[in-house]
This record gives sequence, C-alpha cells and structure tokens, in this order.
Amino acid sequence: MSDIQPHKLSIAPMMDWTDRHCRYFHRLITKRAQLYTEMVTAKALIHGDAARLLRFDEVEHPIVIQLGGAEPSELSKAAKLAEDAGYDEINLNVGCPSDRVQSGAFGAALMADPDRVADCIAAMAAVVDIPVTVKCRIGIDDQDVAQTLPAFIAIVSAAPCTTFVIHARKAWLKGLSPKDNRTIPPLDYDLVRAIKTEWPGLTVVLNGGLQDVPHAIKETQALDGAMLGRAAYQNPWVLSKVDQLVFGSKAGQYGKAEIVAGLVDYAARETEQGTPLHAITRHVLGLFAGDPGARAWRRTLSENAPKLGAGPDVIVNAAAAVLGKKWAA
Ligand SMILES: Cc1cc2nc3c(=O)[nH]c(=O)nc-3n(C[C@H](O)[C@H](O)[C@H](O)COP(=O)(O)O)c2cc1C
Repeated sequence: MSDIQPHKLSIAPMMDWTDRHCRYFHRLITKRAQLYTEMVTAKALIHGDAARLLRFDEVEHPIVIQLGGAEPSELSKAAKLAEDAGYDEINLNVGCPSDRVQSGAFGAALMADPDRVADCIAAMAAVVDIPVTVKCRIGIDDQDVAQTLPAFIAIVSAAPCTTFVIHARKAWLKGLSPKDNRTIPPLDYDLVRAIKTEWPGLTVVLNGGLQDVPHAIKETQALDGAMLGRAAYQNPWVLSKVDQLVFGSKAGQYGKAEIVAGLVDYAARETEQGTPLHAITRHVLGLFAGDPGARAWRRTLSENAPKLGAGPDVIVNAAAAVLGKKWAA
C-alpha cells in the first residue's frame, strides 16, 4: 500500500528553496517522501527555457511539479510538457499570496474563483494521464471559511480533482507579506479534518506548522497525509524518520556520515558540469542543526563554498570539522 501513497508524507514546494539540488539532498535522507518542485509558472514553461526548468534527477521520484497559472489553455500546454519530462504528478498552486503572483491573478487569489480552478484542472487532466492535484489555503481575506472552503472543494472536486493539499491557514492578500502569511493567520487543522469527513473519498493532505514526523503523524490520523515545509528545509534531519515511521520501510536508517558521502559524490558530478558548489551547499547548512559542531559545518561551507572553483573537498572539510573521527573512519 505505502508504495502507491507517496502523498502520506511530502516536502512542500518552496520557491528558491526546493530546486533540484535541494531535492537531491532530501532524497539522500528519505527514499520515500514525495518531493515537490518550486512553483513554475505555465508561461515560463511555454515561453522560457523549459529544459532547464523541468530538469530533475531520476532518484527524485516520486516527484511532483507545481504549476502556477490561471489560463486553462496555458496550463494544459505546461502540463503536457511536464508529463513528457517524466514528472509523476502535477499540482496547481492555489495558495501563494505574493504580489507578483496576484498580479497574474493566480495562486491564492484563485480561492475566490473555484470555477476557474475547476476549468484549469479539467484542461490539464484532459491532456495528461498523471494525477492533477491542488494545493490551496483554507481561504483568503474576509472569506467565511466554514462556508467558502467546502464550496471550493465541492466545485473543484467535480472537475474532477481527487487530491487536495490544504495549507491550514488563510492568506491575507492585502497588508501581509508572503512571509507573514505563513505565520500570522491562525492554523485551523479542524477545518481540514472536516473536509475529509464530508468527502471521505478525497485524498486530503494537511500542511502548515507541522514540526517533525511524529507531529505530522499525530495531526493526520484521520487524514491521508502530511506535507512538511520549513521544518524539513531548516532541519532536514527530521526527514530521517520518514521512511520507517510513515512508510514502514524495513531498510536501516542512514547516518549523517552516509548522507554527507552521497553529497560529496553529487557535488563532484555537478561541479564537474559547471554547477557552483554554493548552489548545492546552501541547502545543507541545517543538516547538523542541534549537534555539537553544527556551527563549524555551517561556517566552513558558508565561507568556502562561494569561492571561485570550490569543489567537493569543501564538504569533506566541513564534515571533518563536525564529524571528526567518525567521518575519517
Ligand atoms: C521560502 C518559501 C517558499 C515557498 N514557495 C511556495 C511555492 O512555490 N508554492 C507553494 O504552494 N507554496 C510555497 N510556500 C509555502 C509552503 O509550500 C507551505 O505551504 C508553507 O511553508 C506552510 O508549511 P510549513 O509550515 O510546513 O512550512 C513557500 C514557503 C516558503 C517558506
């Protein structure tokens, strides 16, 4: 069962954070969690460098691409490109409150226009065979969410869309920055649970404020899955429990030294192809969060990885600074 339910634990789409290097690193720690790209706009895929925007490593499966847009015809073209590139699932962003996104009238603004969301989902589903899903908020601005969220789900699920990842807080489109919109509006997990109760056939995934895997499991007993965002990025070791606790994997858990070894190999391959080391190491600063030596790891990487020509030996040195003899062995 667990093999066909990657949504049981996913790592959130995060702009500027969950690029392919970050996802590769997360995949070193968990073999099973579902990974999401950053949001890619349909326009960028159609008019931009699609090959670069779509690039991912085979190890990243199961991998979901998150699309931004509100034009069914554009989204269907973008969805086809994503399916052809090998993605396992397409997710529509109905939750991002940034000004840039609002000026394109997509993201969280779409919470007020469920008919359009349904049209977008239907247009994508008509041209691809992979699942098309939605990530949304519970509502926006002064919506009465106890009324408007069920109305939204009723319309969009008829598109049909069977999977909803719900960030359990409102987005305030005026007056709050995107960052404040992830902390100030209060979380309402019960409303997400009520959606599952009303539509038991839908796959409902909870997102927002989940701190680690035990917390995610506890809050999603009656739901289909949990999505971790900032906690996974800032303290990636929380992901080390995912395969065993969520997916029931019997494989032994990796240690940090093995993760670092995988990272060194990856950095060697990537820097060889011209990727700046810093583009990789900027995502791994939190690996030793809370451990003695965490500062040495962060400092060695931050000071040396941005230097011209920096290679994987910088990671080797940073690991020696924190793991000492364990690493040398
Ligand atoms: C730096 C950053 C970038 C984000 N970018 C996106 C995005 O591209 N698409 C999206 O749906 N949500 C985005 N989010 C929101 C997260 O996916 C998630 O919904 C939010 O952080 C709440 O989950 P958390 O409390 O586990 O972090 C972003 C969050 C952060 C911190």
